[in-house]
Amino acid sequence: MNDRLTTIRQEILDGIEQHAGTRASAFELRKQFLDSKTGKIGQLMKEMKSIAPEERAGFGKSVNELKEWAQQKFVELDEKLKARELERRYESEKIDVTMPEKGTETGNLHPITQMRNQLIDVFSGMGFEVYEGTEIETDYYNFTALNTPKDHPARDMQDTFYLSPEFLLRTQTSAGQIHVMESKKPPIKILSPGKVFRSDDDATHSPMFTQMEGLVVDKKITLCDLKGMLDMFVRKIYGEGTTTRLRPSYFPFTEPSVEVDVSCFECGGRGCKLCKGTGWIEILGAGIVNRKVLANCGIDPDEYSGLAFGIGIERTAMLKYGINNIKLLFESDLRVLRQINDN
Ligand code: DAH
Repeated sequence: MNDRLTTIRQEILDGIEQHAGTRASAFELRKQFLDSKTGKIGQLMKEMKSIAPEERAGFGKSVNELKEWAQQKFVELDEKLKARELERRYESEKIDVTMPEKGTETGNLHPITQMRNQLIDVFSGMGFEVYEGTEIETDYYNFTALNTPKDHPARDMQDTFYLSPEFLLRTQTSAGQIHVMESKKPPIKILSPGKVFRSDDDATHSPMFTQMEGLVVDKKITLCDLKGMLDMFVRKIYGEGTTTRLRPSYFPFTEPSVEVDVSCFECGGRGCKLCKGTGWIEILGAGIVNRKVLANCGIDPDEYSGLAFGIGIERTAMLKYGINNIKLLFESDLRVLRQINDN
């Protein structure tokens, strides 16, 4: 009988040596010997009955000693394996603080959004508030109230997407001027950015593009105020040293109307490819709000006057960032978009 105890003791020692690399396998091994029902040591206890009575006490004692010895062995083993696992984890999670960082990629805003934000920044610095209109407009707000009635030849300047005889996709953010003047008494100083739509499609035109309308209505507003604000705008966007020049033009909703040029920021005015040798680049339309438009909105044109301007955001961005095809702004090609990070 003592031989069997010695064998089990040896089996445990061998098992620990050979089959207990992890805590899970050590647990399985322990079960083979110490499980109360199926374990080898438990089995010995069941054999008590077949032992001669005078040997029973000694046998029981020996089995108990073996059991305690085995339990102790497995506790030690478990602790050893626990420590080893912890060590391995420390090793695998070790951070080498001398390694160069992996680097995190950050995105950037779309150039149109960047340009829009820059324009809002410049004009809010001059006291403008932002008003966002709607993309679907009525014929009245987009044209008629802006002194462009149904048979007016100026309607041909913009190829309109009509949704019905009354509703259309706005062709200009100028429509917002009317909403603001109808709902607000002067002094008014608003900026209205947004998408506009025209049936137009080539390298510099897209059927959807973005404009930024400006409107100021107050007592004694003149072209000088307009010129001062636009000079400030071009200096902030195209750099100190740039200035504007106003040329006579025509828009139904402004009188007088002007086309605004910026002095060429590429060549400083000497003449280059960008300004086609003229030293000036056309950037926007503007003017003094037509008296009829003020009257349409219930504002007395004898008491108040206004200035308005409409900036094309794509055009402003294309000039600033040297983009030669408007499509690049709508294609979402990250190789292009990543190059422009100005905010
Ligand atoms: N709405 C004009 C366009 O889309 C641009 C414009 C011209 C806006 C003169 C104005 C303005 O406010 O005064 O072509």
